Amino acid sequence: MQRTGVGAESGGFGQRIMELADRLAHWSESSDGLTCTYLSPAHRTVAAQIRDLMREAGLTTEIDTVANVIGRYPAADSAAPALIVASHYDTVRNAGRYDGRLGVLTALILAEHLGRLGRKLPFHLDVIAFSEEEGVRFSSSFLGSSAVAGRFDAKLLERRDAQGVTLAAAMAEAGLDATKIPALARRRDGLVGYLEVHIEQGPVLLEEGLPVGIVSAITGSVRSMVTITGTAGHAGTVPMARRHDAAAAAAELVLYVEKRCAQAPTLVGTVGKLVVPNGAINIIPGRCELTLDVRSGDDATRDAAMSDILSEMERITARRGVTIDSQEVQRTAAVQCSARLQKVLADAVVGAGVKPRHLPSGAGHDAMMFSGLTDVAMLFVRCGNGGVSHSPREIITAEDADVAARVMLDAVLRLAETS
Ligand code: GLV
Ligand code: MN
Ligand code: MN
Repeated sequence: MQRTGVGAESGGFGQRIMELADRLAHWSESSDGLTCTYLSPAHRTVAAQIRDLMREAGLTTEIDTVANVIGRYPAADSAAPALIVASHYDTVRNAGRYDGRLGVLTALILAEHLGRLGRKLPFHLDVIAFSEEEGVRFSSSFLGSSAVAGRFDAKLLERRDAQGVTLAAAMAEAGLDATKIPALARRRDGLVGYLEVHIEQGPVLLEEGLPVGIVSAITGSVRSMVTITGTAGHAGTVPMARRHDAAAAAAELVLYVEKRCAQAPTLVGTVGKLVVPNGAINIIPGRCELTLDVRSGDDATRDAAMSDILSEMERITARRGVTIDSQEVQRTAAVQCSARLQKVLADAVVGAGVKPRHLPSGAGHDAMMFSGLTDVAMLFVRCGNGGVSHSPREIITAEDADVAARVMLDAVLRLAETS
């Protein structure tokens, strides 16, 4: 690591990342826990905070028309292509403080450090804090990164949140001009690659005693909104044999998803939301709404499971006299990380004295949007507490954040030498 000139600051990067993650966690939509969903007041404040941090780090900054925060550490040649180092700043409900933000803050301190060294690169270093990855408010992930990758689906502008507000209206209310989204798309020849640091969100690195790992591939997913319609009735008067209970049908479906998705190694299926609208203790449920998320490292395995789940819905429909409507809301293909960039990361990991461990990601990441447009790679950071994430119990250590920052700095300098 001598060549990077960072040896004198041992530990400093990690401490600063932890402090900044704590600072950003102050803004939340809920009084207990961290929730920061697309274009909420908390979300807009966090965007402004990140922009200010980028400015203080000496970057040229901008909040774009989908609320991504972009900070550029410019190359000497303004016509040079860019290396994007990025992740997201939105969160799930009752989130941890590192999912997404760890990657944003690592990229930020990396650019800040290069500026302090006065070290110019043969490419622009674009630090991007994507505005939306989790899909919480509009049931669609990657709103921020899809725009920059030129993959934003304009049909989503009509998608409504739980309050009935369309994405288009939410953007207009925030002063964001949706007609400018196509102009955000980066061109292939303007990019050197895409790198993302992210908390692992699983137990592999923890169990193997490693601070960081290199992502080999990112799982693909299919997401659906399912509505089951039965017949509401009096809980005391309708005999069991005459019922068309929407919640009981949902229960069967949930158990089938669990059983079917246990049948292949990387296959997983989750019903993350399950509601009986207007339910009451003395009413047979007439309607049930649920979400379905099915993923696999292999798209064919996932699609076979989805097809079986849809067949099971038909069987439940026939058996119980209910109707089941399943609307697919998102489909992302599994992504292989670039062999070239994995090697650069692995060399930097070895340079930091750590065994290079390659592992697949079961979670979706902004990096997926850039696959096909440019080379993508990711560095995972060990997740404490047994690997729990999407939870306030999500934790990393300053030491591991420090290793990640050093590895990224080394990787960027290695890329600079070969570009
Ligand atoms: C993003 O966090 C996902 O659901 O994979
Ligand atoms: Mn994330
Ligand atoms: Mn997440």
